[in-house]
Amino acid sequence: MPRSRFVGMDEDLHAAARDAMQNAYVPYSEYPVGAALRGADGNVYAGTNIEFANYSNTLHAEGVAVAKAVSAGVREFEELVVVSAAGDGVTPCGRCRQTLREFCDEDFPVFCVGEETTEYTLGELLPDGMGPETLGK
Ligand code: THU
Ligand code: ZN
Repeated sequence: MPRSRFVGMDEDLHAAARDAMQNAYVPYSEYPVGAALRGADGNVYAGTNIEFANYSNTLHAEGVAVAKAVSAGVREFEELVVVSAAGDGVTPCGRCRQTLREFCDEDFPVFCVGEETTEYTLGELLPDGMGPETLGK
């Protein structure tokens, strides 16, 4: 079970995730996703999904948000908000969970917005995951 519900999501992140989702390029799945990270620098890094005709090149919203932050020199994060146009409370896929784990600890909060907003920790989404510590880093 998720750790808690209806807790303090950063509404600016929610708005940023929804704004980014408006720019989703999803001609194949028609399933827009938006994600927004609060960087330790206080700034917001938002991303959306981008699809390609070969399907397998698809960029996920969370990965795009991470890439934007890291490209700006930010590698520490406070929380993540994820939203889909379907309003189904979509959670990050396995690959995105692993991507997040590179830069975030197991207690990192992930808010998934649907009819209800559910707060997970990254550790709940990726138990016993591999992180930099695994390789002694
Ligand atoms: N998607 C994301 O953007 N993030 C996830 O972690 C779940 C899946 C996107 C990929 C694809 O464009 C669409 O949702 C359907 O899978
Ligand atoms: Zn993903």
